[in-house]
Amino acid sequence: MIDFHNHVLPGLDDGSKTMEQTISMLNHAISQGITDVICTVHYQHPKMDGIEINLKIVNDSLQKVQKQIGEKINLHSGAEVFYLPNLLEIRRDPLTVFGHGKYMLIEFQTHQLPPNYDEELYKLVMSGTTPIIAHPERYKPIQDDINIIEKLIHSGCLMQIDAGSLIGHFGTNCKNTVIKLLKRNMVHFMGSDSHNDGKRNFCLESAVNICEKLIGDLTEKLVYDNPQKLLDGENIIPWEVLEEEPKSFIKKLFSR
Ligand SMILES: [Fe+2]
Repeated sequence: MIDFHNHVLPGLDDGSKTMEQTISMLNHAISQGITDVICTVHYQHPKMDGIEINLKIVNDSLQKVQKQIGEKINLHSGAEVFYLPNLLEIRRDPLTVFGHGKYMLIEFQTHQLPPNYDEELYKLVMSGTTPIIAHPERYKPIQDDINIIEKLIHSGCLMQIDAGSLIGHFGTNCKNTVIKLLKRNMVHFMGSDSHNDGKRNFCLESAVNICEKLIGDLTEKLVYDNPQKLLDGENIIPWEVLEEEPKSFIKKLFSR
């Protein structure tokens, strides 16, 4: 399995604090059958204000960790970009993109989506970079209306869910939303979004077990095929979004 989205590199953001913690997290990942970890350091996130980050800093850190952990797991560099209306400018920074400029992982604040964000994302699509929305199930506006995601997929975006959302780490609304997204074929990647060796550690294994019950063999696309294509800079064609299941007569009666 390939874990796409985590904060495992030590001391670069609000993730792992020390090399010791990083190694402990990676050993936990290995025990779950994770062979590759795409490290996604926070980029221009307000809570990282004033901390310098660039590809060299990330690669230097990554190489130190790789040397310590050995060949049991492969690390890849990358970033989780905090949405600001500057995506077209920052895509020139190689840290912000995957697959030679083909993909960018973008997160939003959880309580509201910023004005004109959809137009900015579309401009990015038109420039040749596919936006991948990080953990859409954790955003309140999406929990209220998942059809926002359908529109974003139709305009060329892809979706990455957090494994923890499926396990229930972020509450019932989040879990229900992620289940709806999966059932409607609106998910393309799953990542641990791990931050430490405690409650927010790598957790793909248990999430994959739940996911397989919901979408069967498609699960493999989320944790292997698609992240591999992203690393190789290959096209990822999203599968067709399914219509919302019609409510049963009983459900309709009680939702009035
Ligand atoms: Fe993250």
